[in-house]
Amino acid sequence: MRPKDSRSNLFDREVELGKVVEYVGRLGLPITLVLGFRRVGKSSLILVALRELGLSSIYIDLRKFEERQYLSYRDFVLELQREVNNLARRFPRLLDFLRNIDGVSIMGNQALFSWKSSSRVSLASLLDAVNEWAGNGIVIVLDEAQELVKARGFNVLPILAYAYDNLRNVRFIISGSKMGLLYRFLRVKDPESPLFGRAMGVVELAPFTKEQVIEFLRRGFEELGIEFNDYDTVYKELGGIPGWLTYFGLKYYEYRDLDRAINGTVDYATTLIRREFENFLADKAVARDRYLTIMRIVSRGCAGWGEIKNGLEVMLGMEISDSRISEYLRQLLDSAWIVKPNNKYCPAEPLIGKAFRA
Ligand SMILES: Nc1ncnc2c1ncn2[C@@H]1O[C@H](COP(=O)(O)OP(=O)(O)OP(=O)(O)O)[C@@H](O)[C@H]1O
Ligand SMILES: [Mg+2]
Repeated sequence: MRPKDSRSNLFDREVELGKVVEYVGRLGLPITLVLGFRRVGKSSLILVALRELGLSSIYIDLRKFEERQYLSYRDFVLELQREVNNLARRFPRLLDFLRNIDGVSIMGNQALFSWKSSSRVSLASLLDAVNEWAGNGIVIVLDEAQELVKARGFNVLPILAYAYDNLRNVRFIISGSKMGLLYRFLRVKDPESPLFGRAMGVVELAPFTKEQVIEFLRRGFEELGIEFNDYDTVYKELGGIPGWLTYFGLKYYEYRDLDRAINGTVDYATTLIRREFENFLADKAVARDRYLTIMRIVSRGCAGWGEIKNGLEVMLGMEISDSRISEYLRQLLDSAWIVKPNNKYCPAEPLIGKAFRA
């Protein structure tokens, strides 16, 4: 279930792709955000956009830190080092721009970045060097950037602000599946924040509509030469998240049986979702049961604020203050476990609902 990386493999997303290319390429905006639920196709969109843009790029995948409680300078710098060396393999001249930076040593055709506190490499000098090297522009992708809230002993916000204001050739694409958390991290509306007031391009990826789901599956099955007609059932059971639909397509190809393929997808999805929810709960300590119970309540159907408070108190047998309840709901909204259309709280997508009903 890899992200797609070429235009011909990407279904639709014309509008969103056009926006990324326009913001990053034609307008040269310093920062463009790509937002959307998990498995909605953010990484695919970014990879295809990078190809279309034809600019060199450094891709930092922060998803791998999802299960961690914190992220050290060492973690971040080693990740950056790997990606910079990837780029330097194709463009060895980049090493000449890095050579004289404190905390960088060049060994053969590799750059080594120091994270030791006395001599650690500064991210600002690295970006300066990259900016000088990349005359035509370079894109730095921070995929799943909300994980950077866990950074300990360093802060990328001032660096982003510095690059925003001074480095004409460096453009960031910042993606996040926990949109509220990402905005909380960037603090663009906070006058105290380094990024305060900086305009950014924003591209939101929504789940596929029913029509898109039908067309997506129809094309996929046509390519495989498979007869298929049960689109309505698939949309009803699985919703519009491309990642689940792709998995379903594979299972149907394997089993040639609708129920088995749907059940297989539901099992797979709900297992993953529950595991991801465990990560979310990892720092929630005593409120664990409360978060779980709220998810169970909203997953029976959408629920209003009062209904959630009542349900929670009844199920846990204790009084819970209004401010606590609001805080729990805010956390769940910020991490995109729930959404709030029409003043009701609902699971963000159908399979999240199923994961908490089982
Ligand atoms: N527009 C699309 N056309 C074809 N396949 C897609 C499309 N969007 C997503 N997919 C498929 O869905 C799956 C999830 O996509 P991707 O990894 O790009 O999403 P994501 O939003 O980055 O997910 P995550 O939150 O897990 O990082 C992949 O298998 C990908 O190939
Ligand atoms: Mg991704």
